Amino acid sequence: MGILKSSLGFLVLAFAFFLCFIMSTSGDGSYVYLQFVQQWPPTTCRFSGKPSNNRRPLPIFTIHGIWPSNYSNPRMRSNCTGSQFKKILSPRLRSKLERAWPDVESGNDTKFWEDEWNKHGKCSEQTLNQMQYFERSHQMWSSFNITNILEKASIVPNATQTWTYSDILSPIKAATQRIPLLRCKGNPQRQAKSQPKNRGKSQPKSQATTQLLHEVVLCYEYNALKLIDCNRTAGCWNNVDIKFH
Ligand SMILES: *[C@@H]1O[C@H](CO)[C@@H](O)[C@H](O)[C@H]1NC(C)=O
Ligand SMILES: *[C@@H]1O[C@H](CO)[C@@H](O)[C@H](O)[C@H]1NC(C)=O
Ligand SMILES: *[C@@H]1O[C@H](CO)[C@@H](O)[C@H](O)[C@H]1NC(C)=O
Ligand SMILES: *[C@@H]1O[C@H](CO)[C@@H](O)[C@H](O)[C@H]1NC(C)=O
Ligand SMILES: *[C@@H]1O[C@H](CO)[C@@H](O)[C@H](O)[C@H]1NC(C)=O
Ligand SMILES: *[C@@H]1O[C@H](CO)[C@@H](O)[C@H](O)[C@H]1NC(C)=O
Repeated sequence: MGILKSSLGFLVLAFAFFLCFIMSTSGDGSYVYLQFVQQWPPTTCRFSGKPSNNRRPLPIFTIHGIWPSNYSNPRMRSNCTGSQFKKILSPRLRSKLERAWPDVESGNDTKFWEDEWNKHGKCSEQTLNQMQYFERSHQMWSSFNITNILEKASIVPNATQTWTYSDILSPIKAATQRIPLLRCKGNPQRQAKSQPKNRGKSQPKSQATTQLLHEVVLCYEYNALKLIDCNRTAGCWNNVDIKFH
């Protein structure tokens, strides 16, 4: 009995060490999960201070980026080390990204990719090197066509109709089997210039009656392979109708 107990104790101890080992070797441990963020270009352009009209805003969801994130502070932009963007994307990958990940604000796609990598991508470099980061983003974009998922649920751009948060969430959840996160921006007609920096805390200062759907976030576990539920963090205001156009 004594021997059994002590060997059990040993096993527990060994397992604990094993866990520590795993945790300390899984890269820098500097993030917990990944947010794959897609944007609705017309909303981005409405709120952009940049010359967004270089191109007609595309009526399809396009990539904003993969953001390595912590649960404790999902919006914190980390100050992580990692190598700076290298302009070594193959022509084949570039042409895929030009469609899936255009810079809808200023029209310089390379600049957008560079900024996203330098702000976010390099934080998960231990998991996805630069080439993998962009390849994987494109795969994520292709694997769930958000525009199409919403279209099939009759959620199509319409300047007068409004939806609730769960109206828009439901079809995406049904298609992905996971809970996405939606992000909105205040209606520019009412909110004027107060919104661009407001990432949607709980309630707008001036009482908005509607908000515009801006981004759809899918969450992936550390290795970027498996979808997980996103937590409902600030993104859209509660109990305010959502417009999509
Ligand atoms: C996550 O949190 C850790 C510890 O606070 C920090 O060092 C790291 O930079 C954070 N990573 C991200 C992506 O926010
Ligand atoms: C977010 O979800 C994860 C996984 O379910 C959980 O561990 C964590 O505590 C949640 N964080 C917040 C801030 O809700
Ligand atoms: C960010 O990195 C710089 C330089 O490595 C360091 O001095 C600074 O304290 C870091 N800031 C945070 C919030 O971690
Ligand atoms: C676009 O951005 C890249 C990367 O920052 C830069 O090297 C290039 O000169 C820019 N192109 C134009 C046309 O501004
Ligand atoms: C996604 O769906 C939209 C709407 O159905 C369609 O126009 C678009 O071509 C699709 N994109 C891809 C990459 O299949
Ligand atoms: C927009 O939505 C309204 C209200 O639901 C509907 O009556 C109208 O037909 C829609 N417009 C288009 C172009 O689908």
